[in-house]
Amino acid sequence: MLNTIALFSSSRRNGNTGEFMDRIASELAVEVVDLANLRLSPYDYDHRNRDDDFEPLMERVLSHEQVIFATPIYWYAVSPAMKVFLDRISDFLEVPDLLPKGRQLRGKNAFIVCTSICDEPSAAFMAAFHETFEYLGMNFGGVAHVNCEHGYSPAVHDTDAFTFSALVRDTGVRSGLSSI
Ligand SMILES: Cc1cc2nc3c(=O)[nH]c(=O)nc-3n(C[C@H](O)[C@H](O)[C@H](O)COP(=O)(O)O)c2cc1C
Repeated sequence: MLNTIALFSSSRRNGNTGEFMDRIASELAVEVVDLANLRLSPYDYDHRNRDDDFEPLMERVLSHEQVIFATPIYWYAVSPAMKVFLDRISDFLEVPDLLPKGRQLRGKNAFIVCTSICDEPSAAFMAAFHETFEYLGMNFGGVAHVNCEHGYSPAVHDTDAFTFSALVRDTGVRSGLSSI
C-alpha cells in the first residue's frame, strides 16, 4: 500500500494553493493529482457517469493510506471540482459493486491544505470537512492553511509547508506506515 496522495483543485494550477501544495509535495515526495486534468462529472442519482475518470481516481486514492485534500477557500467552501469529487464519493456508498471499496476509506488519515485571505480557515469550510471525514470514518490528521491576501510568499509561508509536511510524515509513521 502506498502512503500519501494529494488531491488538488483550484481555478488556477499555479496560484496560491498550487504553490503551497507543491512545496508540501516536494518535501514529502508525494503525487499531486490535479482534478482539473480529469473528467469528473457531477453526481448523478442514476449513476450514468460511471465511465468518467472518477472510479479510476478513487482506486488510486484507495491504494494510499493518507489523503491530502488541497483547495482554496472559495465562498467559505471548497473549489467546484473538489466539491464534485466529494459528492461523487457517494457513488462508492451507493452502487452495490462499489460499496466494499467505499468502506476502505475507513481508517485512512485525511489532511487539508488550503489558502484564503483570512488568518484562519473559515469555520464553515472546516466543519464541512470535519463532518465528511467523520461520516466516512476517516481520521482527521491536520490542516495547513496560509493567508494569501498578498499572494503566496515563500519567505512567509514555506515554514508552514515544512511544519505540515513533518506532521503528515509523523502521522504516517505513528500509523505504522513504512514510507511516505
Ligand atoms: C471566487 C472566490 C471566492 C473566494 N472566497 C473566499 C472566502 O470565502 N474566504 C476567504 O478568506 N478568501 C476567499 N477568496 C480568496 C482565496 O481563497 C485566496 O485568494 C486563495 O489564496 C486563492 O487560491 P488560488 O490561487 O489557488 O485560487 C476567494 C477567492 C475567489 C476567487
